[in-house]
Amino acid sequence: MKKMTLPQASRLTSPNPVTIVCTQKGDGSTNLATVSWWTCLSYNPDMVAFAMAKTSYSGERVRETGKVVLTIPGASLAEAALGCGSTTGRDTDKASQFGVELTSLEGSEIQIPVHSRVAIQCALKEYHEAGDHYLYICTVEQVCGDLAEEALFAWNGYSKLAPAKQ
Ligand SMILES: Cc1cc2nc3c(=O)[nH]c(=O)nc-3n(C[C@H](O)[C@H](O)[C@H](O)COP(=O)(O)O)c2cc1C
Repeated sequence: MKKMTLPQASRLTSPNPVTIVCTQKGDGSTNLATVSWWTCLSYNPDMVAFAMAKTSYSGERVRETGKVVLTIPGASLAEAALGCGSTTGRDTDKASQFGVELTSLEGSEIQIPVHSRVAIQCALKEYHEAGDHYLYICTVEQVCGDLAEEALFAWNGYSKLAPAKQ
């Protein structure tokens, strides 16, 4: 084996998970941001975590509202998810800019993309500084899924989104 950087290693672990983090803006609309660094933490109680850059608008909204929905995008959302991962909701309505149709999730004020494979509705429990990111630890309030949608994964770092079967 040879020494390498962590970003190089994350290309070797490709494909990696990917989620679209859905949060509520001040005007009630939904912001969408693509995040690879998420994981389940506990099944008793159900808990998940994700890491976002300190500067991200999504993180600001989660800290403000205490609410977030993590969705696993279906295959048809590949291009839109790349767009949602390269613009900020501070100055962009990403759903309309990238043509993402949104739908309501019963029990949540945050809308989610149509063609999501999984939606995990969460309440923020705590967050911690982790270098240049914050780690958001959340309790899970509700989980919904649609087997008909094929999940996307991140390939070669952030450069490509595609299903795991190639
Ligand atoms: C495939 C992919 C994965 C990403 N994963 C992360 C991540 O795990 N954490 C993070 O902070 N940003 C990640 N990003 C970058 C954010 O999506 C990007 O900074 C976005 O502009 C944040 O939007 P916001 O300011 O509306 O929250 C990723 C981008 C892409 C395309």
